[in-house]
This record gives sequence, C-alpha cells and structure tokens, in this order.
Amino acid sequence: MNKIYLDNNATTKVDEEVFKVMEDYFKEEYGNPSSTYDFGKRVKDSIEKARDNVAKFFNTTPDRIIFTSCGSESNVTAIMSAVNKYPDKRHIITTKVEHASIMETMRFLEKKGYRVTYVGVDSLGRINMDELKESIDDDTLLISVMCANNEIGNIYPIKEIAKIAHDNNILMHTDAVQAAGKIKIDVKDLDVDFLSISGHKINAPKGIGVLYVKDDNNYSPYIFGHQENNRRGGTENSAYIVGLGKAVELILNDNYSKEKELEELRNYMEEEIKKNIEDIKIYGDLDNRTPNTSSVAFGGVKGDELMVLLESFNVYVSTGSACNSTISLPSYVLTACKADVNNYSPIRISLGKYTTKEEIDEFIKILINAVGMLRRRG
Ligand SMILES: Cc1ncc(COP(=O)(O)O)c(C=O)c1O
Repeated sequence: MNKIYLDNNATTKVDEEVFKVMEDYFKEEYGNPSSTYDFGKRVKDSIEKARDNVAKFFNTTPDRIIFTSCGSESNVTAIMSAVNKYPDKRHIITTKVEHASIMETMRFLEKKGYRVTYVGVDSLGRINMDELKESIDDDTLLISVMCANNEIGNIYPIKEIAKIAHDNNILMHTDAVQAAGKIKIDVKDLDVDFLSISGHKINAPKGIGVLYVKDDNNYSPYIFGHQENNRRGGTENSAYIVGLGKAVELILNDNYSKEKELEELRNYMEEEIKKNIEDIKIYGDLDNRTPNTSSVAFGGVKGDELMVLLESFNVYVSTGSACNSTISLPSYVLTACKADVNNYSPIRISLGKYTTKEEIDEFIKILINAVGMLRRRG
C-alpha cells in the first residue's frame, strides 16, 4: 500500500525542481562563495539570485534578507536582537500558542531575569487582544506573535499587533514558518521588524531558514562572522539557499493557486469526515485558518492511539506539533484553548502540494475503519 502523507505542517517533500537546481551545487558548483576567483563568485551570484527571489516573496529588498540554518535560528536571532537593542528594558510579550523555539527562548530569558507575558487565546484559539494591549508597559521591548499556528492553523492579526507595538515604541517579530507559502506574506503591509520562515515547510530542504530584518539598527548577530554582510557567520549553505530560492520562485509563479485547491480539498475532507463519522470536533478558528490544516477529534478516541493505528495503514498524521511528538502530554495549544482534550483529543491532518483527491478518499475510508475499531475497543 502506498503511503499517504498528511503531515505537511511537520515537513514537506523537496520539490523535484528544487532538488534539480540544488544538485549542481554539490557536484560542480561547490566553490566557497567568499572566494575571489570565478569558481566562488559564480556561487555567490546564485546566492544573490536566491536572495532576490526571497525578497520578492516578502515584498522587500534583498538587503533585508538573512539566510539562517532554520526557522528556529531565525526566531532566536530575532528575539536576541531585540533584547540586545534595548538593554534597559526587561519585558517581552508573546502568546501561549507559540512554537517551542520561541517558548524555550522565553524560558531562557525568564531565568536571566526577564518578565514574559504569555497572552492567552479563546476557545477557538484566537488571541486575546485586550490582554495583549493591557500587558504593555514602559519596560516592554518586544512583541513576538506567530503568523499562523502549526497545530490548528489559525492566522493571527499580525498587522494590527505590529501597529500596537510600534505605537508603543516596541519591536515586533512574527514567526511566519507555518504561514509562508500558504498565505501571502508582505512585510511592508505587515510592518513587522523581524519575520522568520523555514525552507522545509515549503518544499525546500530541512536546514535552511530566513530572517527578514526591517532595519539593521535593530539587529545583532547571533553567529558572528563576515558572511551575510556581517550579520550571520558561517560559510553559506549554497545548495540549500539556491533550493530555497527556487521553492519561493515556484510559489510566486503559481501565484498561490495550489493553496486554493488545497483549501477545497481540506474542506471536502472535513465534510466527508462529518458525513461519515459521528461525534467529531474540529479545532481552531474555522473561518481564518491556513488552507491545508485540520485539527480533528473523534469523541472518545485518543488522538495518539488513532495516529499509531493510522500508521499501521501507512497513513501519516500527527497529534500536534511534530517537535512534541515524542512527549505524550496534552497539546499546550489546545490546553490554552481550554479544549476538552480528555474526550476530544485531536489528530492534525495537514495537506501539501502533493496531496491528491484519491489519497483523501482512501484516507477517509481508512479513518472510518480506524475510528470504528478504536471506539469498539472502548
Ligand atoms: C511555527 C513554527 N515555527 C518554527 C518552527 C521551526 O522551524 P525549523 O524546523 O526550521 O527550525 C516550526 C517547525 O515545526 C514551526 O512550526
């Protein structure tokens, strides 16, 4: 039986075209981009072309783009930049539903004496904006809120939050790792100071990320060295950078039309689930979600047991954030939503550009069977 991969929020398959352009940078064009001879300069030129593509993808200029090793590095670098920019301020605002790379950085800073406000969400996972505004004080240096949530797919009002931040002389970062490729990202419109994305969520490889920085005066390097215009040390990961450049070019050329198809497919899947399985619950802000994500719970069925059973049928989903999949704790995102996770613990189904209607139809059949088996088992 062919595998049915429905965990694209965890990672995606590298696009064939992306893989093809990268290959050359391992086999032939392996020069060091910092070398002054042509064999290195050609690689540097390719990196700059990729930077141009990423800049277009974000609606900014190439000098605002820094290549990093992953979304996590981009997130940590943005937060540490803000901390270094305002050494006299000691308060940061974030939310209860951020990715582990943000949460762990906040815990680290708390140990160093920083105050962190984790703004709550309502039952649909929407940010409590009043709480966010009320938590601002003279000591606040940064607001970091994700653009889209990895578990329930909620899209957050980043433009509005950035305006609140700037009206109060506070820097604004957004983790757009789960938003990139799924919704348009225009940094001019959002007016954020920092924005992070990751290659492996958009059909580029794992191990490449981007940090957008609006103003270098607010930036401080996390890895020292001359590369990336003295902003991030380390010989450039040229093959992966070129791959990422291709991945964003493909999204731009496609003009996000694949995402419309994905949304239709996701909605079709949810309708079929509702039609065929009783007592289900879909988490999140259903009218304001990324087009590929569905967090579905089946009354009385444990999400992790269902995930394991589905795996035995060669179907891959998750129970929440991939980074937490080894820890069997209730999802902190759903805990923040005060969800009834004891009776309705969800699986996360996330579609990708290679997901087909045939796969969804097959998945529905397997799911009906699996939920039935678990419910009969009790
Ligand atoms: C919302 C979010 N932020 C950051 C990351 C981290 O990205 P990376 O795996 O490239 O470090 C992830 C990955 O799961 C994510 O979902």
